[in-house]
Amino acid sequence: MLSIKEPVGETLSTRSLTLETSDIQATVLRPRPSPYLGEYAVLRIDDAAQGREMLRRTVPHVAPADEWWVPSLPGWLGIAFTFEGLKALGVPQASLDSFPIEFRQGMAARAAILHDFGANAPANWEYPFGTADMHIALAIYAQNEQNLQRVLELARKTRQDLPHISVVYRMQFGQLPEGRNPFGFKDGLHNPQVEGSGTTGQAANEVPIKAGEFVMGYPDELGQTAQAPIPEELRRNGTFVAFRKFHMDVAAFRKYLRAQASSPEEEELLAAKMVGRWRSGAPLVLSPDRDNPALGADANRNNEFSYADDMKGFKCPFSAHIRRINPRDALKDDIVDVNIHKFLRRGTNYGPPLPEGALEDDGAERGGVFLLIGAHLQRQFEFVQSQWVTDGNFISHGTEQDPLIGNNEGDGVFTIPKRPVRRRLQGLPRFVTVRGGEYCFMPGLRALQWLARLGEHAE
Ligand code: HEM
Repeated sequence: MLSIKEPVGETLSTRSLTLETSDIQATVLRPRPSPYLGEYAVLRIDDAAQGREMLRRTVPHVAPADEWWVPSLPGWLGIAFTFEGLKALGVPQASLDSFPIEFRQGMAARAAILHDFGANAPANWEYPFGTADMHIALAIYAQNEQNLQRVLELARKTRQDLPHISVVYRMQFGQLPEGRNPFGFKDGLHNPQVEGSGTTGQAANEVPIKAGEFVMGYPDELGQTAQAPIPEELRRNGTFVAFRKFHMDVAAFRKYLRAQASSPEEEELLAAKMVGRWRSGAPLVLSPDRDNPALGADANRNNEFSYADDMKGFKCPFSAHIRRINPRDALKDDIVDVNIHKFLRRGTNYGPPLPEGALEDDGAERGGVFLLIGAHLQRQFEFVQSQWVTDGNFISHGTEQDPLIGNNEGDGVFTIPKRPVRRRLQGLPRFVTVRGGEYCFMPGLRALQWLARLGEHAE
């Protein structure tokens, strides 16, 4: 049996466990292992009965959240469904109709809201993203190649002799050296603490967020418990996933920094200003002038900060990626309840790193895939993407976008508050391009069984 170590910064306290973790998928609550590698696969179902048979065979292999520490699988499997996928499985119409509109429409149809235009437009996405061929998404995580192959083999067997199930997409992912992303930043450092999950998450100092924000069946930050989709057996312990695949143009990022800076030290500072953390993960608020790798590596300290003593943004610019996307206490005087815009992030990287120092693109596909998990796609992922990533109004920055992941087209601006005068970087190119995305429903384990038994229900 494979034993996966507890990740740094995550502690298990069963005393506070009030969520039905044995019914929630591991992918929702548990961070990826380290090191990690794995694969995403997308399936199309052309026959409902075969789809349900495949599901029946898959359910025993889907890891529950409370099994993560000592999983019975050599790695683990997560499974989620698009709206088209639920239809293909034969989910009754009344249930389909009860899903939120953004899920029913799918991510591509929401492009105007998400500001997915230009190179990010769905017309430029990889197949099968944005098409009706995307039904089931599998996420397989493992610690090494051998275990990955074992889980892939299990997954393959679930489709054996079922010719009407086809694999329409596969992509491998894996950890880059030192747990960095292709731009060279340590990633996966922050996730909100989920009340009642039994873990402190990666931000033990932060107030836990109500479980209903992330999993259906529990009260959320507004005191409400989700009443849809119906029936309750399908909804309970389920959640939604916004899947986004990004290409990262590392050469463009390096070249832009080189052009704006007069020394390697300044390049590093500008890179940190764009993200809000140094490449080591050390937050600018705690270490504004130079990197502090020991701080970056210390999971107990690298989230131990607030923006309260940086309300002018001299340490971490208002427009920095992490300050925009998780303003913590920075917007506390505004009429914004930041807690209803939080989600869980399960990110992975793909592709080879661009060789150190290279300033020209080598044509390789590299980037990151994000699973942004939350019970309310509209006020979580869609709000953050449309207001905090691709607009600047909320920080009085007009139309300025996120410098790292905004949909900039060579005309981007990035404001760095500074004494005696602020600095404004101009002409930001696109560093990140959306290669595809979709909204998925990630049911609880009992709900998976409910789906597998659909043919037996009176429809
Ligand atoms: C290729 C695209 C992206 C890159 C390169 C990127 C990069 C980063 C980096 C380097 C960090 C700091 C380390 C960490 O905690 O992981 C971070 C944090 C974060 N990112 Fe991203 N990110 C990307 C896309 C996104 C997207 C699409 C979202 C959501 C819409 C997002 C939300 C967040 C959040 C919530 C944090 C934590 C903020 C905090 O520390 O308070 N990121 N990202």
